[in-house]
Amino acid sequence: MSIAIDLSGRTAIVTGAGAGIGREIARWLARAGSSVAVADIRADRAEETVALILDEVVEVGAKSEVFAVVADARDDAGLKRMVESAAYQLDGLDIAVNNIGMLGPRGSAPLLDLDGEAWRDVLDQNLVLTALSMRAEAKAMLEYGSGGGDGQQVIVNVTSGETTRPAPGLAGYGAAKAAINHVTDTAAVEWGPLGIRVVAIAPGTTLTETVAEALPPDYIDAVVASTPLRRRTEHDELGRLVVFLASDLARCITGGLILADAGARLARNRPGIPGGPD
Ligand SMILES: NC(=O)c1ccc[n+]([C@@H]2O[C@H](COP(=O)([O-])OP(=O)(O)OC[C@H]3O[C@@H](n4cnc5c(N)ncnc54)[C@H](O)[C@@H]3O)[C@@H](O)[C@H]2O)c1
Repeated sequence: MSIAIDLSGRTAIVTGAGAGIGREIARWLARAGSSVAVADIRADRAEETVALILDEVVEVGAKSEVFAVVADARDDAGLKRMVESAAYQLDGLDIAVNNIGMLGPRGSAPLLDLDGEAWRDVLDQNLVLTALSMRAEAKAMLEYGSGGGDGQQVIVNVTSGETTRPAPGLAGYGAAKAAINHVTDTAAVEWGPLGIRVVAIAPGTTLTETVAEALPPDYIDAVVASTPLRRRTEHDELGRLVVFLASDLARCITGGLILADAGARLARNRPGIPGGPD
């Protein structure tokens, strides 16, 4: 017996899909047959992801529809337009992946250096942005219904391994992402009876362009050396995880945090992040 995942007829939005992990999640959903709205603040990046996916989709003969929706998700009206236009064009919404997140304008900094503005900014860019994205998506799921398949709808929030341990140097980011884990559980309880599952996933260190620019190679090497599987997380490993979570194989899973971190949470000698406390 073999088991294959087929998301044909399903409809998805992936936020921050113009680069990095979000791009790969969008590609994997389309490979599995889902139609995908590629949401990003940067039109050039979103269109590049669409072009990459269309090349592949045509090659395998899948029927997925793929298009870009461009908006700044930090702008309440822009966010609403982004989600609603995706659900309208897809004629339903089954899968929503909230992947936008960032360290904040100061990157890493000791807790003593974080003033009110820095705290508000990092909470706004991560916690508030994701909570409002989830709200817009759940409303669209209820209003536009399922695009197809078994009618089961799922929201996946991309958080971080920094939520599972103290995060020296990344206090604001860790706290904001941990709060998203908490909102994930609350939404799982509130929206479960409505047929919407909600799950958080955490990548380990993944060498996206943003990470490669922010962190020196010797720090990444030290993280890898401290990680049980002695490796980084690869972009596609989040894509595969989301395909599983969106599928019927995961129909009993809601709430909680699933780590794809090569065991980094269990590391005993993790190096201190550059810019963090001594
Ligand atoms: N890369 C890692 O090592 C790592 C580790 C743990 C968690 N994460 C989390 O994974 C997620 C993706 O990380 P990444 O490294 O791939 O990010 P990235 O910076 O490479 O990509 C983020 C994408 O989001 C888009 N974006 C940013 N702000 C936006 C806005 N306001 N509206 C619409 N689009 C916007 C950007 O244009 C970009 O295309 C983030 O939530 C991050 O916190 C990443």
